[in-house]
Amino acid sequence: MLSRVALRSTSRLTTRAFSTTQARHTKVAVLGAGGGIGQPLSLLLKSDPLVTSLSLYDIRGAPGVAADVGHVDTGSEVVGYAADGLDAALDGVEVVVIPAGVPRKPGMTRDDLFKTNASIVCDLAKAVAKNAPKAHILVISNPVNSTVPIVARTLQQAGVYDPAKLFGITTLDVVRASRFLAGIANTDPIKTSVTVVGGHSGVTIVPLISQSPAGNAVKLGSEEWKALVHRIQYGGDEVVKAKDGAGSATLSMAYAAAKFANKLLRALKGETGVVTPTFVESPLFKKEGIDFFASNVELGPNGVAKIHELGKLSPEEQELVNAALPELKKNIEKGYEFVASN
Ligand code: NAD
Ligand code: LMR
Repeated sequence: MLSRVALRSTSRLTTRAFSTTQARHTKVAVLGAGGGIGQPLSLLLKSDPLVTSLSLYDIRGAPGVAADVGHVDTGSEVVGYAADGLDAALDGVEVVVIPAGVPRKPGMTRDDLFKTNASIVCDLAKAVAKNAPKAHILVISNPVNSTVPIVARTLQQAGVYDPAKLFGITTLDVVRASRFLAGIANTDPIKTSVTVVGGHSGVTIVPLISQSPAGNAVKLGSEEWKALVHRIQYGGDEVVKAKDGAGSATLSMAYAAAKFANKLLRALKGETGVVTPTFVESPLFKKEGIDFFASNVELGPNGVAKIHELGKLSPEEQELVNAALPELKKNIEKGYEFVASN
């Protein structure tokens, strides 16, 4: 066993490091680790035995989060980096999770965050391209429908884009769909899987209730189905409203991101059959000019292994998909235009 003495500087704080006997070492970075999502997400990643090293970066507060989380009794090393430590934070990193950026306040749409978050995400993507060009990138920062294309184009410009390694995190929509459907069907939410496709905002969030075994508790097209779909599509607004100016979903989002990261880490380690919805570069609607789309994706040792078709849709669900496409196209193009003009 190897241990390292704690090292402190203005930009860096290292807690005791442990090398374990685990065959595979996985270093994960959180960019935006000091924020509402970043902090609980860092804690959950510290609790994940598949993470062997955790690199926490923020323009504010990450060394403190690292010192705190670093005391948790799991084997992973935790290092916190301040504003000037981005390059160092990304050194040797295999998975980068990005929750950096501003959250919504009541009355705002996710697209209203574009002005601020587009440049934050673009700058972070440039740093990933330079320091960890082979890393898997998990984008949480909103608007996801635009920030993912921004990361793709930024990596492309740097000559390091691998579409199999870029993911928009839509897991919170899946978690909500399971929870809300289970509440109606009187089932265990964790066993009530719902595939959610499309994107991550309003009408672009399309839950395929008809494909869920618990879905027959709700009659397709009924008022109850409409209300369920609406709640899944606008679940984020519920939280923004309840937080009353203090931000948007952080705890459930941290849970969702940690859940997705764990699936990816399992697949990177060689587990087969790991399938989950995520927003990736996808062939499904390329003909319609839509480069990114969330659908069930099988994860593998190199990221995206297989993008699943949508499967059988009810006419009502087909209508939801049709309504999602133009909005999605607009959001993706907005991301592309940002990179082209910067
Ligand atoms: P927050 O304001 O609490 O935290 C954001 C953090 O990002 C802050 O600590 C801030 O210092 C940091 N930051 C800002 N610029 C940075 C930069 N250039 N480099 C590194 N860190 C930087 O916000 P939050 O509640 O954690 O939300 C973060 C983002 O996640 C928002 O855009 C929000 O809309 C989004 N979000 C997405 C989902 C999803 O389902 N994908 C769910 C919830 C929230
Ligand atoms: C969510 O779905 O909760 C997030 O995208 C945050 C938001 O702005 O609603």
